[in-house]
Amino acid sequence: MTLFSPFQLKDARLRNRIAIPPMCQYSATDGLANDWHLAHYTGLARGGASLVIVEATAVSPEGRITPACLGLWNDAQAEQLARIAAAIRAAGAVPGIQIAHAGRKASANRPWEGDDHIAADDPRAWETLSPSALAFGANLPRVPREMSLADIARVTGDFAAATRRAREAGFEWLELHFAHGYLAQSFFSPHANQRSDAYGGDHAGRSRFLLETLAAVRAEWPENLPLTARFGVIEYDGRDEETLADSIHLVREFKAGGLDLLNVSVNFCTPAANIPWGPAFLAPVAERVKREAGIPVASSWGIERAQDAERVVASGQMDLVMIGRAMLANPHYPYALAKQLGVENPSWVLPAPYAHWLARYRLAAD
Ligand SMILES: Cc1cc2nc3c(=O)[nH]c(=O)nc-3n(C[C@H](O)[C@H](O)[C@H](O)COP(=O)(O)O)c2cc1C
Repeated sequence: MTLFSPFQLKDARLRNRIAIPPMCQYSATDGLANDWHLAHYTGLARGGASLVIVEATAVSPEGRITPACLGLWNDAQAEQLARIAAAIRAAGAVPGIQIAHAGRKASANRPWEGDDHIAADDPRAWETLSPSALAFGANLPRVPREMSLADIARVTGDFAAATRRAREAGFEWLELHFAHGYLAQSFFSPHANQRSDAYGGDHAGRSRFLLETLAAVRAEWPENLPLTARFGVIEYDGRDEETLADSIHLVREFKAGGLDLLNVSVNFCTPAANIPWGPAFLAPVAERVKREAGIPVASSWGIERAQDAERVVASGQMDLVMIGRAMLANPHYPYALAKQLGVENPSWVLPAPYAHWLARYRLAAD
């Protein structure tokens, strides 16, 4: 298996193992995608990746990270996103979307405008929701409202409705955002969930919201298309073995509930975590999830160098490599990877109007 081998999951046929993970653009108004998003996602798909996952798209207004995040709680939003799904498909990539609820990390300023909670007296701020009335801390100190059972049922329904709209908009790969300290991850994490009812406490209680949401989504998403989730399996808070075992137990339950692939990530539920950033640092964790839960996996974080990307696929550590920031720097990064890996005729990775010329011309940088 190599980075440029195709990958089939259900009816989605991916032309290689390079995928673009969801990356918020913080550039929407009222949750609506615009020309920025269309150009951005079209460019990424033309660069040769096999799967382009549209950024965290909120299932309800209060589920946005910032006021400029995308949404999928109304039909006008779905219509705008349909243009993006069609453009990704026309460029030869599978169009995916991540649907999300930001929980207690919502109501924030854009990263380049503070990356903190919007001041409570600012009219743009809104009340945040979480399993318990516990703040994340650090740059996000706002205490959220503890969700009632009615809130929980409503948000689960919002995920199902957003799934229906995502399908109608033409997306062929769905990713549930169960990671990064947002709402679903907060339900599973003892750092955020101290409930004493059926949605907290032991493994079954802390898993309930995630499994119920998966079931509600499963009922709306076609059986022939990949249903995936991004889930943090490790916090790096000193309790890692316990968290990993608990998480892998839940991933097995996700699989039994109809999940087709897991995008393995980090929890980000406490600012006190000590994350060992480094090239491909999460690859051994992804491999363990794949082996112990028996489910295909994707992962990201610092997989950028050609030899790392090739190695994690060739060694079977992951089925798909998610490359984020390197693609922002150069949407044609798959072409650069193909050249570095000595792939024959690397220009085939590009669309014909580019490939025709580059197949015959040696760039100074080559
Ligand atoms: C600008 C930006 C926005 C991001 N937005 C999201 C997001 O919407 N959902 C998500 O799960 N991860 C998000 N992430 C994390 C990326 O998906 C990815 O995991 C991360 O960038 C690490 O991969 P990399 O080292 O290849 O960049 C974002 C990262 C960046 C840089």
